[in-house]
Formats: sequence, structure tokens, C-alpha cells
Amino acid sequence: MFGAVRLVFLAFILAVLANSKKISRHEARKIPDHLLFGAATASYQIEGTWNEDGKSENIWDRVSHREPCVVDNCDTGDLADDSYHQYKRDVEMMRELGLDFYRFSLSWTRILPTSFPDQINEKGVQYYNNLINEMLKYNIQPMVTLYHWDLPQKLQDLGGWTNPHIVDWFTDYSRVVFQLFGDRVKYWWGLYANPIFSEFGDYPAVMKDRIAAKSKKQGFPRSRLPQFTPEEIDLIKGSSDFIGLNHYTTNIVYRNESVYGYYSSPSFYDDIEVISYQDSSWESAASNWLKSVPWGFYKLLTKIREDYNNPPVFITENGFSTRGGLIDDDRVKYYRTYIDAMLDAIEDGSDIRVYAAWSLMDNFEWMRGYSERFGLYEVDYESPDRTRTPRKSAYVYKEMLRTRTLDYHYEPDMSLGMNVDDN
Ligand SMILES: *[C@@H]1O[C@H](CO)[C@@H](O)[C@H](O)[C@H]1NC(C)=O
Repeated sequence: MFGAVRLVFLAFILAVLANSKKISRHEARKIPDHLLFGAATASYQIEGTWNEDGKSENIWDRVSHREPCVVDNCDTGDLADDSYHQYKRDVEMMRELGLDFYRFSLSWTRILPTSFPDQINEKGVQYYNNLINEMLKYNIQPMVTLYHWDLPQKLQDLGGWTNPHIVDWFTDYSRVVFQLFGDRVKYWWGLYANPIFSEFGDYPAVMKDRIAAKSKKQGFPRSRLPQFTPEEIDLIKGSSDFIGLNHYTTNIVYRNESVYGYYSSPSFYDDIEVISYQDSSWESAASNWLKSVPWGFYKLLTKIREDYNNPPVFITENGFSTRGGLIDDDRVKYYRTYIDAMLDAIEDGSDIRVYAAWSLMDNFEWMRGYSERFGLYEVDYESPDRTRTPRKSAYVYKEMLRTRTLDYHYEPDMSLGMNVDDN
């Protein structure tokens, strides 16, 4: 989970909101056979081993080591969940849950310590090979995120994503990892919606026009939004096999005179020209931005189906934060109501194929450190081996996958413990 992701789907949601739809509570709802269930994590948030075995510094190593510290409680991902060493336990948890797939990300600087393909770090490659092979042994599909926010610091020093050379750097890196892992990894994912999925292969007209007009007024010689060339539009339009969607919450937006001068300018928010808020009656997670609004999820899925000609959709993240504790009834309720909303969209015809819960286990939640917990498994950050224990939500998720049924009335008996089912 990360702020930038929230901005991306906020942009979706801005257009989506109006009135709420009542989500029906079925006794026990059948889940379509084709839908794959999994859980997700990301390299910096779980791996640890930040400066050993050949790995070099990335932007999150840099920011989490800043003094005075900027992350809550001065937490860092130096050890995180120690997944670099605990990957077998991670795969065991996937087996306990009965996951079809596991979505994880690759650490660019663990594989390419210079950022470039002149040097490939064997130990880093070995780690991902071990993880992938351990998963495949138990028929769990690896789904790989190429980039989950941990840019090499060296590339950041060169401007990072604002340097046009990043296209070549990222392509080089991607080629290396496709070559290293592509024989076994069938699912890969990267970013971006409208230019890829809309019939025009470009940013929405309103976005281009508005930013161009504002840029002119603000005294810029050209629009702050770079333009795609016709060749680029040709290249990216329809270039993805599916749309990957991280979704957590909903915002209501309004726009009247009060919006003018409300934000500093130029800025992303000033460009969108709306004020957004969340209803105070919505149930809140530990993260203050995260309110449970399942009907917002339904409306977003509907909009994707209608605006983008019903592309295959992978829900790559969805989840709820708490402050910890094994009895997480609020997370259980969140998962049930959001999955219910997703099933409504599927019934309406949405081509949703994959659902990944965020997250398999608690992890380093960026600027919030370990204070906000998203895991199906609780991680004990006092223990040296970062002991993982299933929460109530893990039992409920497991039962849902086992029975292929969403049942609001199922109550797990947690005293039985969590085992791997042979079938
Ligand atoms: C703008 O809309 C908001 C929300 O409906 C309202 O609270 C506010 O008073 C309005 N402001 C103006 C200047 O109309």
C-alpha cells in the first residue's frame, strides 16, 4: 500500500461517485470457479536484509534512515518481516490459506546493485529463485510486481521517474528479470490506465485541456502535462493484457466556488479542481484515509467495465488496517463486504479474474512504519525471527477459498490452529 497508489485510484473515483447502492447480504454466496484468490506483499515492506548479500541502497532505505527520522516511531525496513530468510514460512502460510497465487515484488537493487544490467547479483537472484521454486512446488502461482516503490537511490539522484532515460533503465531492468524468471512466472504487472485502456490511447481530454489552460495562465511556455506522440499512442493503446487495480476506499468529491484558491498552485490537487472528503459515518480503519465503502468498489468496477469495454481486471490489492490483535472482526467484515461487492460486479458482467488480499502478513507500511497493520497474519516485531500468527481474518479467508463460498455467518474455531490441507 502506498500514497501514490491512492492518488491513482482517487483519480478513478472522482468520476464515479453519486449515490450508494445497497449490497445484498446473501446467506452463503457461491464464488465463480474461474476467480483466483491470493495475497500480496512488496519487497521493501517485508524482505529486510537491506545492505547485505550484494544489495545496494534504494529510496526507502534512504528515507527510513533519515535523521531526524521521518517515519512513525523511526521504524525502518532494515529487517522488516525478515522474509529474505523466512520465505519458507511465507510459502507455508500461503499453503495454510490455500492461495491460488501470491503477488510479491522484486527489489531492483537486490538484483542489479549498480541499477544497470552490467552486474547481476547472484545472491539476490537466488533468493527470488528459492521463493518462486518453493511456491511452484505447492502449485502456488507467482505473480510478480516489477516495481513497488523501491527505486534505486542512484537513479533517484539522476531524477528518478522524471528523467526520460528511466524508460531505458526500466526496460533494461525488466528484460533482465523476464530472462531470469520468465520461464516460471506467468503474471507480471506494471502501471497505467486511460492511455492503455481507453479507445483513444491518451489521457482524458478534460485532463489535457485543463492542465494546458492552467499552465498557460500560470506562465509556463507549454503544458505541464507531457504530450504523447501519435507513435507513442499507437504503442501503448491496448498494450496490456489486463487492468491491475489496487483499491481500498472511496472519497466523495464536490466542486463549487470554494475550490478556487483552496490548494496551492500549481499542484495535482489544484489541477483536479475538486474538494474531496469521506463521510464521517463510514467505518474507519487504523489508517485515517481508509474508510470501508464497499459500494464505492462496486461503482468503480462498473465504471471500468463501461468505460474501458470490459477489460480483464486483476484486483491486485484490497485490505483493511488495524492496530494489531488476532481478533480482527472489522477486517473480516471489510473483506466480506468488499468481496460481496466484487461478486455483484461479476454478476453484472465484469470480467474480474484475480483477487489479492493486502496483505499476507503485517509489514512496513511506508511512512506509518509498523503502526498500521494490514496482515491476515500478525507479525511479532519483538521476536527475532518475526513470528507470524494467523488472525481471525486468515481463518475466514481460508474457509472462503476452501468452500468457494462467501458466508457471513461462518465463525472459525481458532483453537484448532491453522493447518495445511492436503487437498
Ligand atoms: C460548497 O459545497 C460544500 C459542500 O456541499 C458546502 O459545504 C459549502 O458551503 C459550499 N461553498 C460555497 C461557497 O458554496
